[in-house]
Amino acid sequence: MKEKSHVVSKAPKSTIRELFDLASGRSDVISLGIGQPDFITPEPAILGNIEALKNKITTYAPTRGVPELLELLEKKVYRINNIKANWKDNIIVTNGGSQAITLAFASIFNPGDELIISSPNFISYFYCALFFGAKLIEIERNKDFSLNIKGIRDAITPKTKAILINSPNNPTGYALASSELKKIVEIIIENDLYLISDEVYENYIYDGLNHISPASLKDMFERTITLNAMSKLFSATGFRIGYVIASKEIINLMEKYHQYTVAGTNHAAQYGFIEALKMDTNFFKEILNSFDERRNLVCNRLKEIGFDLIKPRGAFYVMPSTKNFLLNGKEFSQRLMKEQAVAVVAGSTFGSFSDYMIRISYATEIEKLKEAMNRIEKFVQNL
Ligand SMILES: Cc1ncc(COP(=O)(O)O)c(C=O)c1O
Repeated sequence: MKEKSHVVSKAPKSTIRELFDLASGRSDVISLGIGQPDFITPEPAILGNIEALKNKITTYAPTRGVPELLELLEKKVYRINNIKANWKDNIIVTNGGSQAITLAFASIFNPGDELIISSPNFISYFYCALFFGAKLIEIERNKDFSLNIKGIRDAITPKTKAILINSPNNPTGYALASSELKKIVEIIIENDLYLISDEVYENYIYDGLNHISPASLKDMFERTITLNAMSKLFSATGFRIGYVIASKEIINLMEKYHQYTVAGTNHAAQYGFIEALKMDTNFFKEILNSFDERRNLVCNRLKEIGFDLIKPRGAFYVMPSTKNFLLNGKEFSQRLMKEQAVAVVAGSTFGSFSDYMIRISYATEIEKLKEAMNRIEKFVQNL
């Protein structure tokens, strides 16, 4: 047989999937591996989807998305993110945040272009860069997971096309300070770059911090590709609905790519998102408080157990170091799964600078988190 795609072959099977394989068939496993909130999808989202199906919304959707949804998104990004977008020109509905990432890469990169990201970071960026021939330049985050601004500045070359930020961040839980964002914006403008801003965790932010969308800042709308999804706010990862806000030119390119690769986004599910967007966002306050409680519980217990960690300011992950236990993240996660049936993700999954870390998701009910922490304690005591 002739050779298959070199590019796709290079991407490894997801280590998060490997973890699921290790767990399969075991009922005793507590998973702290998954990036999915545990609360039930709000009823309006579910009913909106069901009603649409009953009304025979089973045809192709308009390529950019259902107009009513686009209009609601225009209002949402103005009200919540202070972004002035026009629904006819600047928005496209995607198959989750994941396809929003794909569209961002498809619309701006040519082979050989360079993309700067701060590591550790979300895995999909690494392989989308590979698929679109972009060279990924990883800059190690500072010890507190803030951005290494000097490192980013020094990494700029004539081939640099874009910088990607994800705040609040998966996997570190870091949320950018407004002063850091300002510096990134300066670099973008000075060097005539694009900024890809993945904001899927915008609602999961603690300690009174505010999420700032860079597309709302002066001179940044045309340069910023803002990615978001219904997945995390509405605990609706299976709906596969996301969206992009960008300049008219970029959305036009995205529409073409979208048309010829997926021909649109799930039609009925878009009506679920429409009903979700009509909800009062207060529904999320209680949920956020519960995530905050879990964050405090997990961080306090991990510290008691002997981990060094940076307390996350957003999302629902914490990324402690495994150095104190003389194991790298991969050894730690594999042995923890075998010996105590707790699933956590090895840090090496998220780039070149996190071999001695693990990612723990605390999007799990409190009682299970407590039990998982007890098991982790037992595991490290037996090392
Ligand atoms: C940072 C980040 N961006 C994008 C996504 C993809 O979101 P979706 O599930 O909507 O495809 C995820 C999912 O975990 C994520 O963590």
